Amino acid sequence: MTCSKLEDVSQVYHPVYSANDVTLLKIPCEEVRCLKDSLLRRRAGIKRPHLVFADPPYNLGVDYGKGKVADMVADEDFSQVLWEWISAAVIFLKPNGVLAWMISEQYADVVSYVLERTTTMEKVQHIIWHETFHTYHERTFPTAHRHIFIYHKKAAGELMTWNPDAIRVPSARQLKYKDKRANARGRVPGSVWTISRTCGTFKARVNWHPTQLPVALLERLVLAFSNTGDTIADMFCGSGTMGLAALPHGRRFVGFEINDDYLRECALMFYRFYHTKEV
Ligand SMILES: C[S@@+](CC[C@H](N)C(=O)[O-])C[C@H]1O[C@@H](n2cnc3c(N)ncnc32)[C@H](O)[C@@H]1O
Repeated sequence: MTCSKLEDVSQVYHPVYSANDVTLLKIPCEEVRCLKDSLLRRRAGIKRPHLVFADPPYNLGVDYGKGKVADMVADEDFSQVLWEWISAAVIFLKPNGVLAWMISEQYADVVSYVLERTTTMEKVQHIIWHETFHTYHERTFPTAHRHIFIYHKKAAGELMTWNPDAIRVPSARQLKYKDKRANARGRVPGSVWTISRTCGTFKARVNWHPTQLPVALLERLVLAFSNTGDTIADMFCGSGTMGLAALPHGRRFVGFEINDDYLRECALMFYRFYHTKEV
């Protein structure tokens, strides 16, 4: 995708939903690089984000509306696609912003390789999400984690947003050992986050999207790496989890997605969020 014919592609960037602090755009995330252009951003009614989150398809044969085979391409092809997606996110991200890229075990090395070679980005952390759910393997230990690579887009003289006090959790000293020396404000979580996935039986689980993330997981990213009033973008909006994590904390949300059904459901969900405070 080139951005040379901005006038031609500008139609694509008309939001399918825009109200309060939410904008949903139907746009393949590889084209998000074009939104670096301020004219297109103004037309779309969005700002460059302080935090970009991405939870792409993992090439594991999940049906996102185009059949399972669409999510089962050759390894080399998917690696190339990942490279394009990551590049688009990096270009769109505001200088001094943070990128959080989630990926499964199979492609973690590709994402890490690409980000390490992206000169504008500096590694902050490699988070392991222990999702308390095991993918069965016949001849080895079941997989129960995903990777989140956190990178900072360097900007001369500026410090990355980092709010440790917003994400503290009760410590073992407080809960287990009743140690008087414990910090009463709790501790900053380590790099392994044990947070339950959104199981099929949970009230929060939607029936219109196959891979909904838990809000608690994304809320920690929002609180740690952004401030009130900041814009947060999700390159693969899906069921809109990032919006639900960001909006209650006073952040603006921009979601990119290519599936019309998911976009429609998300729009309804965010409408309900603002009008009934229920989703
Ligand atoms: C793993 S899911 C994201 C789930 C999301 N994090 C959630 O909590 O619901 C990936 C999403 O990316 C969408 N998608 C696939 N290819 C895309 C592309 N090129 N650009 C934007 N979205 C895409 C799919 O329709 C799917 O909803």
